[in-house]
Amino acid sequence: MSNPVGPRASSTCRTCPISAKSVAHAAISSSRDAGSSVAAAAAAAAAAAAAATLTQEQNTALAEWYNPLSWFSESVPAKAIKTEANIVLLGGDGIGPEVVAIAKDVLQIVADKKGYSFTFTEHLFGGCSIDAHGDPLTTETLEACRAADAVLMGAIGGPKWANSPVGPEQGLLRIRKELGLFANIRPCQIISKEVSNDASPLRPENLEGVDIVVMRELTGGIYFGERVEGDEFATDRCEYSVPEIERIVRMGADVAMTRGKKLTSVDKANVLATSRLWRKTVKRIVAEEYPELELTHMYVDNAAMQMIRDPSFFDVIVCGNLFGDIISDEASMIPGSLGLLPSASLTESGWGLYEPVHGSAPDITGKGIANPIATILSAAMLLRLSLNMEDEAKAVEEACTRALASGLRTPDIANGKAACTTAELGAAVCRELEGVLDGN
Ligand SMILES: NC(=O)c1ccc[n+]([C@@H]2O[C@H](COP(=O)([O-])OP(=O)(O)OC[C@H]3O[C@@H](n4cnc5c(N)ncnc54)[C@H](O)[C@@H]3O)[C@@H](O)[C@H]2O)c1
Repeated sequence: MSNPVGPRASSTCRTCPISAKSVAHAAISSSRDAGSSVAAAAAAAAAAAAAATLTQEQNTALAEWYNPLSWFSESVPAKAIKTEANIVLLGGDGIGPEVVAIAKDVLQIVADKKGYSFTFTEHLFGGCSIDAHGDPLTTETLEACRAADAVLMGAIGGPKWANSPVGPEQGLLRIRKELGLFANIRPCQIISKEVSNDASPLRPENLEGVDIVVMRELTGGIYFGERVEGDEFATDRCEYSVPEIERIVRMGADVAMTRGKKLTSVDKANVLATSRLWRKTVKRIVAEEYPELELTHMYVDNAAMQMIRDPSFFDVIVCGNLFGDIISDEASMIPGSLGLLPSASLTESGWGLYEPVHGSAPDITGKGIANPIATILSAAMLLRLSLNMEDEAKAVEEACTRALASGLRTPDIANGKAACTTAELGAAVCRELEGVLDGN
C-alpha cells in the first residue's frame, strides 16, 4: 500500500513541549479574544517568547508533537515503540463486534510475532449497553477507555434503538466529548487498484493519484448544539468558537505540510454564520502560520461535486463536524466501499480512539459478509499513532493489499462476482500478515 497513513505520534506528546506551544497559542488567542489589555498582550508575548526559546531537545520534541501527523516525513526520528499496551475493544452493535474480532486477531498476530504484550479488554458500548445497563456509555466503559493506551471501536446503533429514550448515538457523541477527541482523521486511498477499478462507481482513470485525508472536527458544531424537538417544531443549533476551529485547522495544516501542501477548507460561508467564522479563521491561521500552503475554500455543495469530478485534486480537506461526516462517506465511494475506510480520532495530546468510518450496517448484520478491511486498517492506524509501530502498521496495510490482490472480495466490493465471507477475508489478511512479518 503506498503512502501509509499515520504519524509517528508519541507518548511524549503528553509532556512539556505541547504546553509550551499551546500556551503560546492560547495566550495569543486569548489576548486577541479579550480585545486585549496591554497586560494581556504582554503576557501573550512573553508566553510566545518562552515557547520560542526552548532548548534544542525541547524544540525537537515540539517539532515532533506539533507536527504529529508527519506521515510521510522521513526526517522525523521514529519514537520508542510501546511494547506493552492495554487496548480497550468496543465492538458495539450490528457488524461492529464481527469486524473488531478480526482486527483483534490481526493485532494479536503482531504481538505474537514481535514478542509484544497487548492486553485486550472488551466493554459494552452503544445499543448493547442500553440493553444491559440502560445507558449507551457507562462510567465503567468510559473510565476503561481513559485508562487504556488506545481504544478500537466497531460501530454503534441500529433500528432496535430508534425509539429508545436515550439512543446509542448519544453515547458516541458523549465518548468523543468526554475524551476530547476533537480531530477525526479519515484517510481515503486506493489500497488495491484491482478492487477499486472493479468496485468504484468512478472510471479507473479518475482514481489515479487519489490520496485524500479528511480532517473532520469532531466535538463541536451542530451535533453538539442545543436541540429542541417537538411534534410541530424542532431546532438544532450550530456553534463554533475560534479556538475550536483553530486547533483542527492547525492539525489539518500540519498534515498538509507533510504531504502535498494543499489544504481545502470546506464550509457553507455563503449562508452560515459559523462557516463565515470558520473561513475567516482558516484564512488567518494559514496566512500567519502556514504561508507555504496552497489554500482553497470550497462551499460544501461544490466540494461534494468536485470530489466525484476530480478526486485527485484534493490533498487534505478540513471541515466541521457535519460536513466532514457527509464528505467522508461520499469519499468512500472513490475506492469503492465504506468497508475500506479507517479513521483515527485524536485528542490534543495525541491519544487515540480508532474506528472504521462505517456504521453498524444493520442490513448485513449477522450474515458474516461485512468487509473487515476498514477496521483492520483502523487497527494499523492504532499501531502507528498510539504505539509508534510504523513498521508493524505498514505490515498490516501490506497484508490487506496482498489479501485483496489474491482476489478475495466481500460482497460490497465484489461487483456482483463471487464473494467471500468476513471470516475468509480476515483469515487471508492474518495469513498474509504472518508472511509479511516473517519477511516474506
Ligand atoms: N461511528 C458509528 O458508530 C456510526 C457511524 C455511522 C452510522 N452509525 C449508525 O449505524 C446505523 C446504520 O447507519 P447507516 O445504514 O446509515 O450507515 P452504515 O455505514 O451502517 O451502512 C451504510 C451502507 O454501507 C454498508 N456497509 C457499511 N459498512 C460495511 C462493511 N464494513 N462492509 C460491507 N458493507 C458495509 C451497509 O451494509 C449499508 O448498506 C445507524 O444506527 C447509524 O446511526 C454509527
